[in-house]
Amino acid sequence: MTVHFIGAGPGAPDLLTLRGRDIIAACPVCLYAGSLVPEAILAHCPPGAEIVNTASMSLDDILDKISLAHADGKDVARLHSGDLSVWSAMGEQLRRLRAAGIPVSVTPGVPSFSAAAAALGAELTLPGLAQSVVLTRTPGRASSMPKGETLVNFAATGATLAIHLSIQNLDRVVADLTPHYGAECPVAVVYRASWPDERLIRGTLSDIGDKLDDGISRTALILVGPALAGEGFDESCLYAADYDRRYRPQSADSPWASWSNGDD
Ligand SMILES: C[S@@+](CC[C@H](N)C(=O)[O-])C[C@H]1O[C@@H](n2cnc3c(N)ncnc32)[C@H](O)[C@@H]1O
Repeated sequence: MTVHFIGAGPGAPDLLTLRGRDIIAACPVCLYAGSLVPEAILAHCPPGAEIVNTASMSLDDILDKISLAHADGKDVARLHSGDLSVWSAMGEQLRRLRAAGIPVSVTPGVPSFSAAAAALGAELTLPGLAQSVVLTRTPGRASSMPKGETLVNFAATGATLAIHLSIQNLDRVVADLTPHYGAECPVAVVYRASWPDERLIRGTLSDIGDKLDDGISRTALILVGPALAGEGFDESCLYAADYDRRYRPQSADSPWASWSNGDD
């Protein structure tokens, strides 16, 4: 018996990996975080599967459920939104399961920041503008931030920021970032990326607050940084005609020439 953690993606039911789909189809028990996991994904569960929405359950209740499945020798599909590597609460479940000697597997999913960038048609790392993406959040009711992980510190790098769980703190975000990025720095708010009611709001640090309405109060990502403009950047060397590289040596003298002949 194994508990299979599966990243269920940002919302669209077809933004699920084939591996995730196949594991769900093979598990007689499915626990899903109902606040963000799309119900359509549950259609992959086998007939007669026990399907449990964990949105209102405590960690103890969830572990009890898993222990019962373990005692019955039933595999469990455990679904969380987006990818499991960020803000999934997988860590605390893994710790308890490992302590209990219950086997686990982890299957990644499409994270919301990728879905948001796709919705915008944006590359977040444009040469000369930004070569790093910071996935972060601001403090919430239930979560403080470790010392040092402040927006001001991240802003000092000039990287593209993908700010999660923070739409209710937009004024604070704007106040912290404006001294570093400037009032005209591009910002995009992506609400429910890949869901049918997805919305994209583009602006700058100076006007993004005015462009939002009360409908956008949760499940939104704030993306900030010069790369969001999608212009004023250099072309990468990767496809430059005269760039000597492993897959396209420019001459017989190239250090890559013998490699590309299969002579490593
Ligand atoms: C608990 S975190 C889950 C993050 C998730 N594990 C991931 O990989 O993106 C929830 C936050 O992620 C962001 N988020 C999740 N799904 C989203 C979506 N479809 N569109 C925009 N933001 C989303 C929002 O900032 C939301 O407040």
